[in-house]
Amino acid sequence: MLKTDSITVRFSGLTAVDHVSMEITSDKLVAIIGPNGAGKTTLFNLITGFLPPTEGRVFFNHKDITGWKPHQITNSGLCRTFQITKLFEQLTVLDNVLVGSLWYEKRISAAREVAWEALAKVGLLDIAQQTASGLPIGHRKRLELARVLATQPKMVLLDEVMGGLTPQEVGEMSEVLAGIFDGGIGVVMIEHIMSAVMALSHRIFVLNQGKLIAVGSPEEIRNNDVVLEAYLGKHFARAKAKQAEMAAQ
Ligand SMILES: Nc1ncnc2c1ncn2[C@@H]1O[C@H](COP(=O)(O)OP(=O)(O)OP(=O)(O)O)[C@@H](O)[C@H]1O
Ligand SMILES: [Mg+2]
Repeated sequence: MLKTDSITVRFSGLTAVDHVSMEITSDKLVAIIGPNGAGKTTLFNLITGFLPPTEGRVFFNHKDITGWKPHQITNSGLCRTFQITKLFEQLTVLDNVLVGSLWYEKRISAAREVAWEALAKVGLLDIAQQTASGLPIGHRKRLELARVLATQPKMVLLDEVMGGLTPQEVGEMSEVLAGIFDGGIGVVMIEHIMSAVMALSHRIFVLNQGKLIAVGSPEEIRNNDVVLEAYLGKHFARAKAKQAEMAAQ
């Protein structure tokens, strides 16, 4: 279980993440949504030790991991991807994943086996020997995911793994994520592609201006006025007024 307790970070004047408390269990596929600049990536940075919080604490499987280094957090079974993929461009797809599997498995043959399994899970077996540089975005995103899976995590935090994908690739990625979740790994995804969020997740957390403004099922979030207002701003107020006007006629 992943838990944040009033986690907060301030950057000279801006509170990017503002007293966010959340509990995430592996039995629900979770999405974190919110407008650009809401603090989603910063929240992942706080959870995974890339950024120290100004206030608050992070717990993973009942251990207080606040202040731990990123590699210690990976060791504890919590692993993340980055919004902008960070691949070893000159290495092959397989070797990129090996970097992940060697994290735990020091015997190269066993590590290679784990890497192949991770590639199979994301559907990249065919291009295992290609170099990472020049891969299209859809493959880069899946490779990043394979690398995270190769660390044999208990829970993965995915920062926009569907960003920039075609609708077909989004469908394929959704299947991959559902497969990972069904395999018993906790999945937490930051995502802007609402069709995928609504279809895939069981529980949605909504951030706006650093604050957690709503938590609920896709159905609940879809019909939540506070959430609509955060996304649509003034347009929302106008749409509401129009709706009221029409109802009155
Ligand atoms: N290291 C930093 N120093 C100063 N400000 C930062 C830093 N990191 C993030 N911010 C600011 O914090 C706010 C939240 O940024 P963040 O990247 O977490 O948003 P996000 O929800 O991931 O947005 P997007 O959907 O566009 O990826 C933004 O205003 C951003 O400019
Ligand atoms: Mg982000």
